[in-house]
Amino acid sequence: MKRGLTTALLLGLVLPLAILPAQAQRRGAPAGPPNPFAGNSQAIAQGEQVYNQNCTSCHGPNGGAGEIGPEIVHNLSVPLRGELNDEQILDVIRNGAPGTVMPAWKGKLADDDILRIGAFLHSLRGTAIDNPLAGNVAHGEEIFWGNGQCGSCHMLGGKGALKGPDLTNVAAEYKSNLIVDALTKPNHRIFGDGGVHLRALPAMDTYDAVHVTLNNGRTVDGVLLNQDSYSLQLMGDDNQLHLLDRSQVKAVVNKPPLMPTDYDKRLTKEEFADLMAFLTRQGRKAPATVSAPRNADPD
Ligand code: HEC
Ligand code: HEC
Repeated sequence: MKRGLTTALLLGLVLPLAILPAQAQRRGAPAGPPNPFAGNSQAIAQGEQVYNQNCTSCHGPNGGAGEIGPEIVHNLSVPLRGELNDEQILDVIRNGAPGTVMPAWKGKLADDDILRIGAFLHSLRGTAIDNPLAGNVAHGEEIFWGNGQCGSCHMLGGKGALKGPDLTNVAAEYKSNLIVDALTKPNHRIFGDGGVHLRALPAMDTYDAVHVTLNNGRTVDGVLLNQDSYSLQLMGDDNQLHLLDRSQVKAVVNKPPLMPTDYDKRLTKEEFADLMAFLTRQGRKAPATVSAPRNADPD
C-alpha cells in the first residue's frame, strides 16, 4: 500500500507543502505559558542563590559543566538546537533524569524556586532577541529579501522558500554570534566542542544539498529534508516538495552546502550590520516557557 502510494507520487505528482515534515516539530516542545519570573531581576538573583545551594556541586557555577553533571548553559559557539528548551529544562529539574544521579527536585524545592532557577538559567542562555544588535533594522530587512537573497532559500514570517531552515524565530533560537557564524563560517555546523552535552544529536542529515538520479533517467536537485528506508523527501530547486520512492532511485550524490558563508564579503560592513540588526530581532521574545508541573492537581 505504502509503496504503491509513494510510487504514484513519484509519477510527477508534487505534494502540497502542508505535509512538510517533522522539521518544525523537532524544534522543541510547543510553548507553554510564560515563566512568571522570566526577566525579573530579583527572581533571577534568587534563582541563582537556589541554584548555587543545590546544583553547583554537580553542574558547576553558572550552568557550566561540573564534575558530575553536564553543562546546562553553553557559552561557546554552539547552537541551541539540540539543547533543551526552557520547558524541557524545568521538566528535568522537577522530575530528574531517571537512571542517572540527577534528582527530581519537585517536593524538595518549592515550584516557585524551580521557576526562579529556570529564569536564572534562561538569563544565562539569553539568545539574540534578548540582546539585539544595533543597526538600521528596516534596511536590514531590505537586504534580507533583496541583495542577500535569503528569501530565495529561507522562510521568514510566512514568506520565502523552504530550502533552508525557517528563520522566523531565529533570534530566539540562537545567540547573535551564532547567527554571524552561520553567515560567515563554512564550518558553522559544528555542533559541539567536545565538552558539550547534547541531549539529542542535531539533525545533521537535513538540508543536505543532493542531486538525485532516478531509474527512469529523471533527475531531481534539491535539499534533503527527510529520509527513511523507503523514501526520500526533497525540497527541490524548483521549490516543490518531492517524495521519492527509494526503489526508483538510482543514485544520490551530495553537493556542496547551499548556504553561502561569505556574507561578510558579499555585503558591505554597514549592510552586514543592518542585516544583523534585523535578524537579531526576528523571533518571539521568549518569556521562558513553562508547562504545568506533571501530575499537577487539576485545581
Ligand atoms: C548529584 C548530582 C546532581 C545534582 C545535585 C543536580 N544535577 Fe542536574 N544533572 C545531573 C546529571 C548527572 C545529569 C545528566 C542526566 C542525563 O545524562 O540525562 C543532570 C542533568 C540536568 C539537566 C539536563 C541537562 C541536559 O542538557 O540534558 C538539567 C537542566 C539539570 N540537571 C539541572 C539541575 C538543577 C537546576 C539542579 C539543582 C536544583 C541540578 N541539576 C542538580 C546531576 C546533578
Ligand atoms: C541558496 C540557499 C540559501 C541562501 C541564499 C541563504 N541560505 Fe541560509 N541556509 C541555507 C541552508 C540550506 C541552511 C541549512 C544548512 C546549513 O546551515 O548550512 C542555511 C542555514 C542558515 C542559518 C542557520 C540556521 C539553522 O537553524 O541552522 C542561518 C541563520 C541562515 N541560513 C541565514 C541566512 C541569511 C540571513 C541569508 C541571507 C543573507 C541566507 N541564510 C541565505 C540556505 C541558504
